[in-house]
Amino acid sequence: MTDYVAAIDQGTTSTRCMIFDHLGRVVSSHQVEHKQIFPRAGWVEHDPEEIWTNTREVAAGALAKAGLNASSIAAIGITNQRETALVWERSTGKPVYNAIVWQDTRTAEICERLGALGGGADRYRDRVGLPLATYFSGPKVMWILENVEGAREKAERGELLFGTIDTWLLWNLTGGPDGGLHITDVTNASRTMLMDLETLQWDADIAAEMGIPLSMLPEIRSSSEVYAPGRAGGWMSSGVPIASALGDQQAATFGQVCFDVGTAKNTYGTGNFLLLNTGTERVRSENGLITTACYKIGDGPCVYALEGSIAVTGSLVQWLRDNLGLIKSAPEVEDLARTVEDNGGAYFVPAFSGLFAPYWRSDARGVLVGLTRYVNKGHIARAVLEATAFQTREVVDAMNADSGVALSELKVDGGMVANELLMQFQSDILDVPVIRPQVAETTALGAAYAAGLAVGYWSNQDDLRRNWQEDKRWLPNMDAEVREREYARWKKAVTRTFDWVD
Ligand code: G3P
Repeated sequence: MTDYVAAIDQGTTSTRCMIFDHLGRVVSSHQVEHKQIFPRAGWVEHDPEEIWTNTREVAAGALAKAGLNASSIAAIGITNQRETALVWERSTGKPVYNAIVWQDTRTAEICERLGALGGGADRYRDRVGLPLATYFSGPKVMWILENVEGAREKAERGELLFGTIDTWLLWNLTGGPDGGLHITDVTNASRTMLMDLETLQWDADIAAEMGIPLSMLPEIRSSSEVYAPGRAGGWMSSGVPIASALGDQQAATFGQVCFDVGTAKNTYGTGNFLLLNTGTERVRSENGLITTACYKIGDGPCVYALEGSIAVTGSLVQWLRDNLGLIKSAPEVEDLARTVEDNGGAYFVPAFSGLFAPYWRSDARGVLVGLTRYVNKGHIARAVLEATAFQTREVVDAMNADSGVALSELKVDGGMVANELLMQFQSDILDVPVIRPQVAETTALGAAYAAGLAVGYWSNQDDLRRNWQEDKRWLPNMDAEVREREYARWKKAVTRTFDWVD
């Protein structure tokens, strides 16, 4: 009996496999963290082989915990950290360099060089929906081709392949050097700066300007279709259909059943990503948001989204734990923050990777301001949590300005939504209800939904809407005057991050 659907969620700090039943309930889950490699300030890398090893391990773990075997799994979906880019040898599967992670800022100079060709940061925006920024994959591939010895020559001979993490996993799962499929989906391709958002094909002119041979680029497919039966990776080699691929934020949007135009979700992970479904229309932001592919189901049309991307939210809590040792585990931040009444005048702007939406400033670096002898670690913990909520307010303001309609409630998901203090503050600072669904792990759920649709495990999107259940709702409870005073102070703190990097 094929009673379940599995999803691999390959995130920035960990990889997990989750198995879901027909009601979208979690049957089992297995998760493993991977190394964060920081070779110098501003650089962030992952070892692609470690990620592939962990993928096999978590898939085995989740199946074993559920007490199932491969024949019970109707399909596997893939979802992944987006933009992170790697290049490997077609004949051996060996990466020529570590994966360069989305948070990495080494391509600032490359982005400037491209902008100087004309048009500045908006050079490609009309075609790809994105500003030139260190966040996206194309310039990362350029960096590899320009800096790894022999890479350019090999690439020009057609010996190298580029992929985001979905492509790397799909290629390995379908046989690797032994005939593996070199494919990606529209959502991941839309984060490279190389895909034309209208045609859903690679833009040959942009690729040429970046010096990236087209032979390196994967074929762009829909987000939900049977790509191939699994041919490698433990039980996944037994021919289970590999049937979806979506960038993690798009998967979370799908998992939150944001299928109607105007519906939105905000995911609290390493960073925060607010996506608003704009249907088949590509809306150009005038307020610092990006335009991105949201999903494409089989032969259906591409559905687009406006996105507010925030680089550092949950990873600031990890930084408090790992770099300062102020807490032993991430959830402790809430207890520490509750030891004080308020932020004591302190504001923390975590511009560790520059600032993404709505500013797109790669010259920004983090600041902690408003310090006096009064401020203690409780206030800093509060400032850390409030930073997530203030940054979210900034992208919600941008979203409201772009759409001309004020968001009336916010659907949230991801690890940090377990934090009650943060969720209440989020509702206070936005002045709208914040709503958490019963399954907060909507990223894996969205990938499972897309895979299940492709094999007929779920018949249609209405089937999925029925699975969504509210768990908790926070209502705003802050004086308007206090709210606007706090937000104004935050805005002032943000200005202190600018012009730090020459
Ligand atoms: O764009 C980056 C995003 O995909 C990372 O997501 O959940 O790994 O922080 P996450």
